Amino acid sequence: MLDDLDDTATLTALLAWYRDMGADEAVGETAMDWMAHGGIAPGAELRERLAEAQPVAPPPVSNVATPQARPTAPPRAAPQARAPSAPPAPREVRNFPVTPPDVSQNAARSAAASVASLSALEAALKSFDGCGLKATAKNLCLYRGAERARVMLIGEAPGRDEDLAGKPFVGPAGQLLDRMLASIGLSEETVHIANIVYWRPPGNRTPTPQEATVCRPFLDRQIALVEPDFIVPLGGAAAKHMLNVAEGIMRLRGRWQDVQVAGRQVRMLPTLHPAYLLRTPAAKRMAWRDLLMLKAAL
Ligand code: URA
Repeated sequence: MLDDLDDTATLTALLAWYRDMGADEAVGETAMDWMAHGGIAPGAELRERLAEAQPVAPPPVSNVATPQARPTAPPRAAPQARAPSAPPAPREVRNFPVTPPDVSQNAARSAAASVASLSALEAALKSFDGCGLKATAKNLCLYRGAERARVMLIGEAPGRDEDLAGKPFVGPAGQLLDRMLASIGLSEETVHIANIVYWRPPGNRTPTPQEATVCRPFLDRQIALVEPDFIVPLGGAAAKHMLNVAEGIMRLRGRWQDVQVAGRQVRMLPTLHPAYLLRTPAAKRMAWRDLLMLKAAL
């Protein structure tokens, strides 16, 4: 119990560890003690539901995230810092899917397939539990801007501000993005802004390829509905995912690529992420060149 931790230094170290692991936000009113959850793995209910819906033998895939997301051992005090021992009411349980990615992706594909509008896409995402990011996010972040647009900008993932607002790119990076767009005569009224994943990754880590892949059927549907001629992936994670390549953003940026996406022929122009530009103002020159290329194409 936290009450037992009268050592301020230990408690501070514990909180710092939680923050470093990405647990920097409360996601519910009541703390959840998963250890006291009857030995049932988080997400087990969802896995059963999906397995029933699609009775294929799941491959032996664990939901252990990529190395960047793997937690390290907590400080010694962590075991004492459990949440209240009374099991929470069932409606408070939030699933943490351990579903094999192909099962989640099939579920995403069928959920996205019948969607005919952005509001239906929002409803489909709200009832989709196949992406583990949803469990720790406060809000779904679907899009900001016009419903139909010639230019669609796709970033990496919602951050803290976006998670609170439920809209992509509303924090400092988004404000810079708006200024960049304004410099070539574009605005929220004329572009559509989204991300490769719809929920904030804990601690603002980069989404794993698996998380982006699970969200992809929804993003493809979104692209089909928005009907952009130009897609601007913002930053390395978005560029690699959208172009399905391994090259870094410095090689990809400022080069048009004609690609078939969501059944449409579109021109993609990766550029630097505005959050990177905030940290590295000297790189704004490169982003400016990319913006001028977009303006010329428009
Ligand atoms: N960074 C992103 O990639 N997307 C957002 O929505 C906000 C910050």
